[in-house]
Amino acid sequence: MTKKRILTGDRPTGKLHLGHYLGTLENRVSLQDDYETYIMVADVQALTDNFDKPEKVRDSVYEVALDNLAAGLDPEKSVLFVQSQIPELAELTVYFMNLVSLERLQRNPTVKSEMKQKGFGSNVPVGFVNYPLSQAADILAFNADIVPVGDDQSPMLELSREVVAKFSNIYGYSFRMPEIMVGRVARLVGTDGNAKMSKSLGNVIYLSDTEETVRKKVMAMYTDPNRKHATDPGKVKGNPVFIYLDAFCKDKAKLSELKERYAAGKVGDVEVKQYLSDVLNEFLEPIRERRRYYEAQPELVKTILSNGTQQARITVAKTMQEVRSAMKLFGT
Ligand code: TRP
Repeated sequence: MTKKRILTGDRPTGKLHLGHYLGTLENRVSLQDDYETYIMVADVQALTDNFDKPEKVRDSVYEVALDNLAAGLDPEKSVLFVQSQIPELAELTVYFMNLVSLERLQRNPTVKSEMKQKGFGSNVPVGFVNYPLSQAADILAFNADIVPVGDDQSPMLELSREVVAKFSNIYGYSFRMPEIMVGRVARLVGTDGNAKMSKSLGNVIYLSDTEETVRKKVMAMYTDPNRKHATDPGKVKGNPVFIYLDAFCKDKAKLSELKERYAAGKVGDVEVKQYLSDVLNEFLEPIRERRRYYEAQPELVKTILSNGTQQARITVAKTMQEVRSAMKLFGT
């Protein structure tokens, strides 16, 4: 029986953080044994809002590859590859552009909020509004069954599914219908309690943070804003420190005891934060160890990416042959 396929990826614009881990990396790692797994370093997509910062994108390709390997992605099981090195993805994007209206692309809520954040106004580059379609091409070119992503990516999946239907209607070729798979924590709050952990908000704990940095960031975290003294009853619900503990603490008995003491005003914020630091550092330790292993061998990481890219290209080439022939292109 053929294995089902997973395709997902990250824009290389910086390092990956705990929110990425819970939203998608954890799923990638745990599913790689049972699925044919393709992980893309989406440098073409990163250029849609960083076209004037090519060095940043180039350097982040390596960082993001390292983050994936450190998180536990096994290059023996998964294919790790670089988007720009597969020109067929750009080709497929162009064909898809005939099937979707500009108005439809401008309705994408994730794109809308990114446009606001980046201050594009009415001067939004064509490439940027079009990136969800390019993402649809990524997903469909691999005929992915499952796409593990954070929940901000659901509009991209919706669009991909529309393209499957439209393409099949017009050209009679059916891509596999992709399903979204969101992590057990779809969106992690920031250390400041903001709804989203995000680099631009500066409320992030990176997978590559040192033990010391994690401790400092946790100590500065927001808790219950109404609690002035350790003897005040504290609010557990919605408290970022407890949200993180719920996500990362394995000792559930200890955690519920801590919550009880917090609610009763019998434990200080400092003690709870110290515990969270320990929990996060314990979680991050194996990730740091794998990072050290790969960091010491940059040539190995390069080889993993170039071998993966070669393999990914073979998979895409097969789909593209069928696509071109369905579209009655010259010579097919
Ligand atoms: N949009 C994703 C992000 O912001 C990256 C990405 C590009 C992606 N192509 C993809 C994710 C295809 C899943 C499938 O990180």
